[in-house]
Amino acid sequence: MIKRKVGKNNIDFNEPFLTGEMETNEKDWALLEKMVEDFYKVQGVSKKILEHFVIHNKQVKDFVIKFSSEGNFKKREKEIVILSAILHDVAKGLENFELHGEKGGEIAEEMLLKIGKSSLLAQSVRMAIIRHMGEEGYPARMAKKKYGDDFKYPKPATIVGQMLYECDILTQLTSSGFDKLLHLRKINEKDIADDKKTALRENITQEEAALFSVLESAKESYNLIKIRSVKKFADDLWQKIQIKYINVLPTRKI
Ligand SMILES: [Fe+2]
Ligand SMILES: [Fe+2]
Repeated sequence: MIKRKVGKNNIDFNEPFLTGEMETNEKDWALLEKMVEDFYKVQGVSKKILEHFVIHNKQVKDFVIKFSSEGNFKKREKEIVILSAILHDVAKGLENFELHGEKGGEIAEEMLLKIGKSSLLAQSVRMAIIRHMGEEGYPARMAKKKYGDDFKYPKPATIVGQMLYECDILTQLTSSGFDKLLHLRKINEKDIADDKKTALRENITQEEAALFSVLESAKESYNLIKIRSVKKFADDLWQKIQIKYINVLPTRKI
């Protein structure tokens, strides 16, 4: 399914064809946020994880509003990126994490059509969401492990898709995002087992192994950010992380 060519045939129709005023407003955004939350509940997402998801989605939305306002985004581009942020992880509560971009795009499109929005807008949002997984980084590695080395996520094709992608990974560098990753790492069985192994191998505590792993992942995300304004913001956040963990950083190359 994911290998479908997201290229010439069905991608180039997007943002430039949407001109003029936005067709959604803050009321629609709030309604969609509620629909996403309800969708998580139907999937049986636990209360704690649901809280994480909601905070994350809100953070991505706030970032895209900030950076698309600072940049030269047209009204409709801003609209697409905001809607994409609200809806990008809607499928995260479903079983197959690796396909939550693909699946999420479909669900997002359906939701927008359901509340009466145009099919061009709904398809544009879908395309941005399909491309939010990233060609490199953790999800891409997981997907390759599962589906083979040839497996590739479609990469963002426009500044709108790129903005969503970068604001999504930027959340890992905020103090709440970083703490969340650390917390999740300490409750995930596979991560715990990996950290135990690392601790034994490197003669460090399990706690330190978890911290190093999250630091490495944050650094990787930081390096993937390219849009100038986002990068500038990320520089600051990465510096704060370095200061916070200055005592442990010299013991390991991050
Ligand atoms: Fe995601
Ligand atoms: Fe996300």
